[in-house]
Amino acid sequence: MGRVSMLITNIGELVTNEPAPDREGGPLGLVRDAAVLIEDGRIAWVGPSTHATERLARPGERRDRQEADEYRAHWNDVVDVVDAGGRAVIPGFVDSHTHLVFGGDRAEEFAARMAGRRYEAGGIRSTVAATRAATDDELRTRLAGFVAELHSQGTTTFEVKSGYGLSVADEARLVRLAREVTDEVTFLGAHVVPTEFADASDDYVDLVVGDMLAACAPHARWIDAFCERGAFTAEQSRRVLEAGAAAGLGIRVHGNQLGEGDGVRLAVELGAASVDHCTFLGDADVAALAASDTVATLLPGVEFSTRQPYPDARRLIDAGVTVALASDCNPGSSFTSSMPFCIAVAVRDMGMTPAEAVWASTAGGAAALRRTDVGAIRPGARADLVLLDAPSHVHLVYRPGVPLVARVWKDGAIISGR
Ligand code: NIG
Ligand code: FE
Repeated sequence: MGRVSMLITNIGELVTNEPAPDREGGPLGLVRDAAVLIEDGRIAWVGPSTHATERLARPGERRDRQEADEYRAHWNDVVDVVDAGGRAVIPGFVDSHTHLVFGGDRAEEFAARMAGRRYEAGGIRSTVAATRAATDDELRTRLAGFVAELHSQGTTTFEVKSGYGLSVADEARLVRLAREVTDEVTFLGAHVVPTEFADASDDYVDLVVGDMLAACAPHARWIDAFCERGAFTAEQSRRVLEAGAAAGLGIRVHGNQLGEGDGVRLAVELGAASVDHCTFLGDADVAALAASDTVATLLPGVEFSTRQPYPDARRLIDAGVTVALASDCNPGSSFTSSMPFCIAVAVRDMGMTPAEAVWASTAGGAAALRRTDVGAIRPGARADLVLLDAPSHVHLVYRPGVPLVARVWKDGAIISGR
């Protein structure tokens, strides 16, 4: 079988996340009036629409041998031409932090919070009870619904954490279910201490680093720990993260969500790919992040849904920290699966520009997952793209709450829209 090629042309604004001297938009690497050629699920070529149209219409006018070779390599097999009608195309969103395998919901807890109650880590335990009570098929059906939600809002790569099982058997089934829908699976046995270990948190950590890790590591790529008051101490978190790393997993951390603490410094010290939340940071935390390869992943849905102060993205970016945005979709602190919503809030309330927020939810998410095949529209990358019903990426913020995602491709195939 020959190559299957598709050309998306007449793109008013293409966000490549590949800056170049002839491209505007700083890190977004904008190409105006652009075209993208896709071959076998990968980006094959990016350039001006006029160039693409000439190649297809007048193949006889090739100027030299190199161009003739390029033509044979790419343009002979174009079978499908999509006219973007002057609209914008951006890379698919990379949501590097979700907790999508769970039973029940916590709408009443949310309503109570909106009436003045504080958010506390302990709420996680009520979702643990509902998750343990759910069958695999119930969880699988729910998960499939969330995946459809993610796709329809432009997310093409997403991470899923366990953490609502908290027994060996339940955590193992959560990572297995997560693995059915994504390669980016995180074992979060250290989410909170379950009720049956209420006065014996160190015994629970023994279980996490022992039998639970052994059962979960084969299905996971990452280890995570919630290093926070009401969850795990720095020492307990370190034990879990080091054991995960010894089992071959990459490190991510939940830290500094409810107050200043040790999460960020621990993450940096252990070379974590990402430390997530980063709501309460001291100057030493910011300096440590800036001097590291650890991404600071900010989760605007959490502060929105818990009525906490927002993290200061401006302070982090100005210090040189790589910032990602993610949904943290979970039933307790942030029950949104919408990256456009997170982008709008991050710009409105966290000091980011629209360009920074779009970068953080695409290339930033990819950096947080240490992925180079997603998050940018460049030759060789996966053909994960979003066509917006809008002329530019700015409209994602300018038109909050409006469904602007018109069509979504993953690996070159349409997964949402027409
Ligand atoms: O990322 N911080 C810890 N875990 C989740 C909250 C989970 C819950 O409240 O159920 C979070 O916010
Ligand atoms: Fe989380």
